[in-house]
Amino acid sequence: MAKFKRIGVLTSGGDAPGMNAAIRAVTRLALYKGVEVMGIYNGYQGLIDGDIKKLGPRDVSYIINRGGTMLYTARSAEFRTPEGIQKAVETCHKYDIDGVITIGGDGTFRGAVDLTNAGVPCIGIPATIDNDIGSTEITIGFDTAMNTVVDLIDKLRDTGESHARCNVIEVMGRDAGDIALQTAIAVGAVTAVIREIPTDFDHVVDKMIEARKNGKRNFLIITSEGMGEGYGEELCAMIEQRTGIETRFARPAHIQRGGSPTLRDRVLATQMGCAAVENLVNGQMKQVVCLRGNSIVSMDIHDALMIDKLMKNTITQEELDSIPPNKLYDMKKIVADKLAYKQYLNYIIDHITL
Ligand code: F6P
Repeated sequence: MAKFKRIGVLTSGGDAPGMNAAIRAVTRLALYKGVEVMGIYNGYQGLIDGDIKKLGPRDVSYIINRGGTMLYTARSAEFRTPEGIQKAVETCHKYDIDGVITIGGDGTFRGAVDLTNAGVPCIGIPATIDNDIGSTEITIGFDTAMNTVVDLIDKLRDTGESHARCNVIEVMGRDAGDIALQTAIAVGAVTAVIREIPTDFDHVVDKMIEARKNGKRNFLIITSEGMGEGYGEELCAMIEQRTGIETRFARPAHIQRGGSPTLRDRVLATQMGCAAVENLVNGQMKQVVCLRGNSIVSMDIHDALMIDKLMKNTITQEELDSIPPNKLYDMKKIVADKLAYKQYLNYIIDHITL
């Protein structure tokens, strides 16, 4: 097995609180193991452009507590072309980078597969506030984003209670309703409206009218951005019209992506950063590190991407046919368990909030 002398680390796609903690862990553990670390700035685009700087232990000081990413991030269209990938490989050769740790979401992992296939081994670390990576139970940034949302909604609730209003809040998550569901529980919302589970609005409206008669003043409804552009505003109007309760709309938008990471995100990012270094220097490649059942494990990135496609229903017949039956069974079970968990959370919301 070739000895790794120098690795690169990059962040790509939407930033997520905890990315810095992962960069710090990668850098510190690699240096401890005698492996040099090159910080690649602006994601895969930085790899194409040679936007690279050597990182020492002090370069990652005082970042564990900071949101955003000190390596910056970008979504690179050029890297999606064969020429872009080739340029990135040439940069790795020029800087003697033996392997790259890529921190981000599914787009980042697609890039990691391409780069590995082109000869530069990569390990992925799942970091996105959306929690939409099927292979891991939790992604870096999800916990912080939810805590930020809870903090904002608690504030809305104060004013909703004073004015006896309903607030409809649209949260991020791309197509995934994870942020909406969990924050709905944490703030005591009437319902969470997400793509994965249909909402019975007749029931929601009846529940609200009944609760208002019984003295409930404020109501919260959380909707996921995955419901579509303008959906939240329309929902707001519909609720006001059908319940007669004055309703306001709010969208915290990118505020959800910022801020100091929670303890949970710092610990997760540190564990995943360390695991990624261990994997890479032990000669594993094209892996993504995941949290499963409280342990950090790893999985082939291609398989992880297939799980995401199964989850989003975007997998092709050809891709399905290429997966051995026992592996497909395990993948489908992961997807089914995730959905069952969401259904369970939805059931709780419906049964304990009035
Ligand atoms: O993937 C993270 C995320 O914040 C999504 O929740 C959201 O849909 C998207 O990124 C927003 O992207 P941008 O930062 O490009 O506006």
